[in-house]
Amino acid sequence: MPSSDSQSASSDTPAAPIGGEFPFVVVSNRLPVDRITDDDGNPSFRTSPGGLVTALEPVMREADGAWIGWTGSADDHVDPFENDGIHLIPVALSAEEIELYYEGFSNDTLWPLYHDVIAPPAYHREWWDSYVIVNQRFADRAAAVSAEGGTVWVQDYQLQLVPRMLREQRPDLTIGFFNHIPFPAYGIFSQLPWRRQIIEGLLGADVIGFQRTADAGNFTRAVRRLTGFQTRGTVIDVPVTAEAEVASAKHRIATVRDDKLVRAVVAKAFPISIDAASYEELARRPDIQERARQIREDLGNPAVVMLGVDRLDYTKGIGHRLKAFGELLADGALKVEDVTLVQVASPSRERVRTYQILRDEIELTVGRINGDYSTISHTAISYLHHGYPREEMVALYLAADIMLVTALRDGMNLVAKEYVASRFDNDGVLVLSEFAGASDELRTALRVNPHDIEGLKEAILQAQAMPRSERARRMRAMRKRVQENDVARWSSTFLATLATPSDDLALPRVSSRVTRSEARAEERAEARAVEEAR
Ligand code: F6P
Repeated sequence: MPSSDSQSASSDTPAAPIGGEFPFVVVSNRLPVDRITDDDGNPSFRTSPGGLVTALEPVMREADGAWIGWTGSADDHVDPFENDGIHLIPVALSAEEIELYYEGFSNDTLWPLYHDVIAPPAYHREWWDSYVIVNQRFADRAAAVSAEGGTVWVQDYQLQLVPRMLREQRPDLTIGFFNHIPFPAYGIFSQLPWRRQIIEGLLGADVIGFQRTADAGNFTRAVRRLTGFQTRGTVIDVPVTAEAEVASAKHRIATVRDDKLVRAVVAKAFPISIDAASYEELARRPDIQERARQIREDLGNPAVVMLGVDRLDYTKGIGHRLKAFGELLADGALKVEDVTLVQVASPSRERVRTYQILRDEIELTVGRINGDYSTISHTAISYLHHGYPREEMVALYLAADIMLVTALRDGMNLVAKEYVASRFDNDGVLVLSEFAGASDELRTALRVNPHDIEGLKEAILQAQAMPRSERARRMRAMRKRVQENDVARWSSTFLATLATPSDDLALPRVSSRVTRSEARAEERAEARAVEEAR
């Protein structure tokens, strides 16, 4: 069932007022809905892809704020509107900007660079120029709609220059930034010709959030290497120069050091999550449980259903998963009569060449495995190149005995948390890559290194043979974690840190001796990370 989560356009809703009245503003590349126009020119809205929207939508529904972002189409000059109780403020991108800023710099430079160069990043000056122009447009929009003394929360790698651009115009604002994807080790980050501008852009924020402690550490090291600013634990002392900033951001002006005023910027991990209760609520619905039964029946009632759910992205390790599965069929360790793999691969960034090549490779592999091992009545891999509404996803989670998350690098991977949140029956086994942020929290998953195909095969066999009592024990521990650390906790922790005066942030100073030895340890860690990434 292809995606049907479209909602009809609320085009008759009066435009949300703009001009400095929103005390809380979220800024992200995409709005939570993409605007789609049919052949007759009628608009409708569809939930936009990715974990960012999954996480932020419930936060925005609670807050009476505005969400600034792009509608997903070229040259879409739309007035602000309201959708599902959220004020949406569109930013238009031209076709050329989509090519240079979005597909180019964001997704063919930053994305591969920040994911440890799994694919080679491309560096083009005209892509960078477009990134600067578009970031400025987002910053201008946020400056125009935010209320005096308000809070602006900027999201993700597409908008790393916005915090500084916004601070320059509106020093009265409190500015947060959250990076949804990994932040690489300095040895990798330093490839970027515009590395200093990115660091300076981010340091315009008061709090910079990352998924993992390691990401925050990589960022802080990059700050030290590129700016020489002093850091104290999770606090970075950023010298303040503009008088307006001193006057209006008093609660963040930390101290006078060497005759310099500094602003305390916090950089630390705030692992993102999901609205866990809403997944459990769906999973408990009889119609969704019936749909799960139906899915298994339609698959021929195999003894074991395995599931993969990913955007079709080279960071997700779909090829590694298929390789392991194909070899298990070839070895005879798995039989097509007993086991089916359902792979949902939702379309993503389809005009970027690396993604086109990936799709060809994945579909060739699926075709080969199915050709070699499927029978008339049993299909080895049920491959679905679609996005699905949340109800269908939860039914799939309930239908799946084993969930395979084999990302090569992933900021968090909210699919892993969605699976856990849906399994109120305390059943199902999560096989989880140690390179996904979620593995820091979901310690009782079967954690794997997806590059180690033999290890991955063993984990799949272990999952298949795992006794019910062990499945329940592992799942219970993961559910506790996901239920306690849900998305409401994520946002409230981040926003509470953003509201904390800098005096309360002060941490013990480190002596210069410790700083030097820390620096040596950092250099060694960076060298190791670069080696590992090769
Ligand atoms: O989480 C990373 C992210 O790039 C988000 O910023 C985005 O919403 C999602 O993945 C989907 O990516 P895109 O907007 O490029 O389709």
